[in-house]
Amino acid sequence: MENKERKPIKIVETVLRDAHQSLLATRMSTEQMMPVVETMDQVGYHAVECWGGATFDTAIRFLKEDPWVRLRRLREGLKQTKLQMLLRGQNLLGYSHYADDVVEYFIQRSVANGIDIVRTMDCLNDIRNLETSVKATKREKGHALVALVYTLGEAYTLEYWKDVAKRIEDMGADSIGIKDMAGLLTPYRAEELVYAIKDATSLPLAVHTHYTAGVASMTYLKAVEAGCDSIDCAISPLALGTSQPATEVMAKVFQGTPYDPGLDMEKMAEISNHFARIREEAIKSGLLNPKMLGVNIKTLQYQVPGGMLSNLVAQLKDAGKEELYQEVLEEIARVRKDFGEPPLVTPSSQIVGTQAVMNVICRERYKMVPNESKKLLLGEFGQTVRPADPEIKKRIIKDEKPITCRPADLLKPQLPKFEKECGQWKQQEEDVLTYALFPSVAKEFFQYREAFHDPPT
Ligand code: CO
Repeated sequence: MENKERKPIKIVETVLRDAHQSLLATRMSTEQMMPVVETMDQVGYHAVECWGGATFDTAIRFLKEDPWVRLRRLREGLKQTKLQMLLRGQNLLGYSHYADDVVEYFIQRSVANGIDIVRTMDCLNDIRNLETSVKATKREKGHALVALVYTLGEAYTLEYWKDVAKRIEDMGADSIGIKDMAGLLTPYRAEELVYAIKDATSLPLAVHTHYTAGVASMTYLKAVEAGCDSIDCAISPLALGTSQPATEVMAKVFQGTPYDPGLDMEKMAEISNHFARIREEAIKSGLLNPKMLGVNIKTLQYQVPGGMLSNLVAQLKDAGKEELYQEVLEEIARVRKDFGEPPLVTPSSQIVGTQAVMNVICRERYKMVPNESKKLLLGEFGQTVRPADPEIKKRIIKDEKPITCRPADLLKPQLPKFEKECGQWKQQEEDVLTYALFPSVAKEFFQYREAFHDPPT
């Protein structure tokens, strides 16, 4: 183990996706990106993550921008650097499962418009939900990176991670990732985990974490020393806090060592200047809350992602019950156990969070049960790592029969229906996908586009 090969670490720059999703509510517009993309192309990044995740929804909902046009423009500017996207497996970029025909067509159009690496994940790490994405990515000659959602809990032993990693390799993925959306991965655990996964598979390993709890750059250091192949970083003005460790800092740390990523420091300084202005504007307008930049130790204490904590505060505020915050945090841990210990990431984080709020507000557990909780227990999102508590499950699903197959096997092709519904607004092939993901927002966006814009190019 000590004699791991020391090799240059590859750097993925996240400023065009995760960094602004984490710090700026995903509000960075294409116009704010374009002046700097040609410089970004010269840095020597392994890839730039620039699409997917929440960027799609936010583009049409708030920015009135066509995400497909953004992708094509980024592709034009970033001629030699690989473009990466984040996909929520069978959920695509939405919140429920789509039929395979929609998933396949979405990936086909994503690659055709410029995506090289499809980083796909499932909120339960049920890899059956990733099969179609991986197959479709390979068919389109893209790179299929399967990201394991990192979480803590009794079920999540090193043996568990090794086993899923092996199954991902068998599935035909090109590389594997650790996706630590909550910043729970501490340095020595990262070292162990990287060793374990590298031991179990021969796939390249990408490590992705967030600075939320203040440990992330140490985590990267140990992960790199343990032999991971790439790390995700954000250019310094939009780094730290709920975002990633700073790219320039990590590059400097490894400079002159066998891990040196060989990035162009001068070009990065130019990029940094550009985003420093965007950061200043965002602080002035209130879009960037300096609170997000500090260390949030509660994430480590309660193992709850930062985004979920802020949702929770908002939900309790709406109900006028802010004093219940602590109680809800404790209830989240119990609900998570009852529901089979799922990782907390969209959409499982919302399901567990909302259920915990209701349990506390009603002063009776599971008196009110949102439909999404029921769907999770019925297996409609896939299989949880452990079975749910049998009594609670029985109480919630009653006589309904849970499903045990891959949930999308029960879905008939959906494209023809979506094509028909959005036909009157269609200006490009990809519009049906925009519509499939967010029907009502897409409709509003299409109407706006018709009124104010030329057709997309
Ligand atoms: Co992330």
